[in-house]
Amino acid sequence: MRRKVIFDTDTASDDTIALMLSLDFFDVVGVTIVAGNVKYEYEVENALFTLEYLGREDVPVYLGAQRPIMGLWRTVEEVHGERGMGRWNIPKPSKKPENEFASDAIIRLSKEYCCELEILAVSPLTNLALAYLKDPTIVNRVKKVWIMGGAFTRGNTTEIAEFNFWVDPEAAEIVLNSGFNITIVPWEVTEEAATLTDEDWDKISKLRTRRAEFFIKVNEVLREYSKRVGSKGSVHPDSLTVTIAHDNSVILESINKKVDVETCNKARGAMLVDWYDLNKNGKKVEIVTKADSVKFKSYLFDALSKT
Ligand code: BDR
Ligand code: CA
Repeated sequence: MRRKVIFDTDTASDDTIALMLSLDFFDVVGVTIVAGNVKYEYEVENALFTLEYLGREDVPVYLGAQRPIMGLWRTVEEVHGERGMGRWNIPKPSKKPENEFASDAIIRLSKEYCCELEILAVSPLTNLALAYLKDPTIVNRVKKVWIMGGAFTRGNTTEIAEFNFWVDPEAAEIVLNSGFNITIVPWEVTEEAATLTDEDWDKISKLRTRRAEFFIKVNEVLREYSKRVGSKGSVHPDSLTVTIAHDNSVILESINKKVDVETCNKARGAMLVDWYDLNKNGKKVEIVTKADSVKFKSYLFDALSKT
């Protein structure tokens, strides 16, 4: 039996590949969209289009929070392209989203698939935080939350903050203090293990499948941006997080610590790790500190090889 998951996403570039992997690995019972990477309506179109492209119109898409709980944020078209799909002007999808609000769908699905549902949160945590605020008992019904977010020291959005935590730190604070069973995959770990070099891109372009073609188009701008800011190639944090959820042996090292998020001023969005277990209250989460790049890339290439 395939594991039931919800894919929570601010759909642009790498999110679409992470969605492709999720469809291969899991039974995706819902895709929930949240404000983050680019204009909300484009994120929705990108998710719908990706599902159509992959022949998975059957997967329901739910619209969620169109802004963070409290603060202002900025979208990052320079990272993902104007509409989030590189320079690809994707056709308007025919598939439509459902009427139910994303956080309500998360609550309902947690009841329908009680104690087996997992959440792949590769985006700001607003939808999940709202679901928890409405029904805190959801914590007892969700088996696991996989989070791409946080940075130890090398923020990709501010000096110290990673984008997903920075967009909605209040939501991250709520989710991290909720008692969910959580694994976090922080930014630096993804940069180490999920950067696709020129050599990797050559390999992908030689595959000549529809999926490889899709990958190249949607990640073209991401690749240019990543290199411009000093990475060795395009970085794929969401895809790595989904792969880790699928195969825990991709985790080479991890620690269990209490994690919180700073919500103030210059350090807004910073991940606060209680390295020395100073805080005796609250539940610890697993933080991945090292991932297996070779295994990750092998999963990715396999997925892109499929016709
Ligand atoms: C995260 O932010 C977004 O831009 C990406 O989709 C990823 O989820 C990386 O910081
Ligand atoms: Ca994302």
